Amino acid sequence: MNNPFIYGEIAVGKAFVGRKDELADIARGLESGERIFLISPRRFGKTSLIINLLERLKNKGLLTAYIDLYRVASLEQLASLFAEEVLLKSETRLETVARLARDVLPLLRPKITVDQEGQLSAELDIGKSGREQSAALAQLFNAAEKIAQKRNKRLVIAFDEFQEVAALGGEPLEKLMRSVFQGHHNVSYMFSGSKQHLIADMVNNKDRAFYKLGRVLFLGKISEKDLRAFITERFAVIGVTVHEAAFQRILSAADSIPYYVQYLCSFLWNKCREGAVLSEKLVAETAAHIADTQAPLYVGMLENVPLKQRKILQVVSRNLGEKLYSQEVIERNKLGPAPTVQVSLNLLIKKGILEKENGGYTFSDPFFRLWVLKNSL
Ligand SMILES: Nc1ncnc2c1ncn2[C@@H]1O[C@H](COP(=O)(O)OP(=O)(O)OP(=O)(O)O)[C@@H](O)[C@H]1O
Ligand SMILES: [Mg+2]
Repeated sequence: MNNPFIYGEIAVGKAFVGRKDELADIARGLESGERIFLISPRRFGKTSLIINLLERLKNKGLLTAYIDLYRVASLEQLASLFAEEVLLKSETRLETVARLARDVLPLLRPKITVDQEGQLSAELDIGKSGREQSAALAQLFNAAEKIAQKRNKRLVIAFDEFQEVAALGGEPLEKLMRSVFQGHHNVSYMFSGSKQHLIADMVNNKDRAFYKLGRVLFLGKISEKDLRAFITERFAVIGVTVHEAAFQRILSAADSIPYYVQYLCSFLWNKCREGAVLSEKLVAETAAHIADTQAPLYVGMLENVPLKQRKILQVVSRNLGEKLYSQEVIERNKLGPAPTVQVSLNLLIKKGILEKENGGYTFSDPFFRLWVLKNSL
């Protein structure tokens, strides 16, 4: 029997847990033309949520497009991916697509080809000078609105890892996108990304192009109730009982972060034998084992962390979520002057090692926390 717990892949179908309220809320917003920014720490399930959401909207008859900016390394590639997702997926017949492309993208001289498997691809020319490229990209983005109008359907475009636009085209690209997207009434946009501080700056900083362009949503963890049902039911299939204490142990070892919960459960599922009861001890041992197997990665990560910051990591590993600003905590742990503690904490967040949660600090990777805890004096 296949392991029902998956990690490192997009969770779809039966593997997708919970998120009922989030799906309903975002779907409603996008259907009515809202622009939405979705922010969360890494591995909370943004991409999985978006893919499931787009599937749902597609089933309701909307047009959808998913653009993962981690896949593109230049403006040309951005143009190709955008055209593929928005243009080529809206029609299936070569002649129709070719005509449509010529109609809506005259500046980009599109060549549409079809391979042996019937897969369409577009070759585009976005020009060389900055001015040519801006005009070409504006025409390309505007093609989205034209297609939605022609098909008389709302089009939903999701940009994942959206913070990357800054690296791809800097301020000019951000400004171009804003001005073009704002003029669209038949396209709804969703922007998401894992570099929280970068996305937050894009939408909250009044000097940036995306300032207040849409509603900002922070994606939290999956509800305990949904996780409990999913985990106990999946173990029940192989005759394994998961009592509440063991379930709580799973949540605390994985800090309830969707990816790490699945990771831990996947290991536990492999270890359990039929008819067993999942013990708290097995959960703790398995979590410790996972942390140990990651040691080479963690040692590598610590190489880029100066001693002062390592000390802070040790303190956070012992006092998860504690408010490190407090004078008492700083003095008790001999962390030095408060302002430098703050600088170190910010650097650890930038490095992706710590997250800020409810005013306190936690590890992005709960197994790294276990490892630091075990390997500090
Ligand atoms: N709704 C869900 N149901 C089941 N598992 C989930 C869900 N959301 C996330 N996960 C688990 O977390 C992992 C990471 O999910 P996903 O890639 O969607 O997160 P992300 O927030 O986009 O991550 P990143 O910030 O790294 O891009 C998945 O492989 C899966 O194990
Ligand atoms: Mg993602």
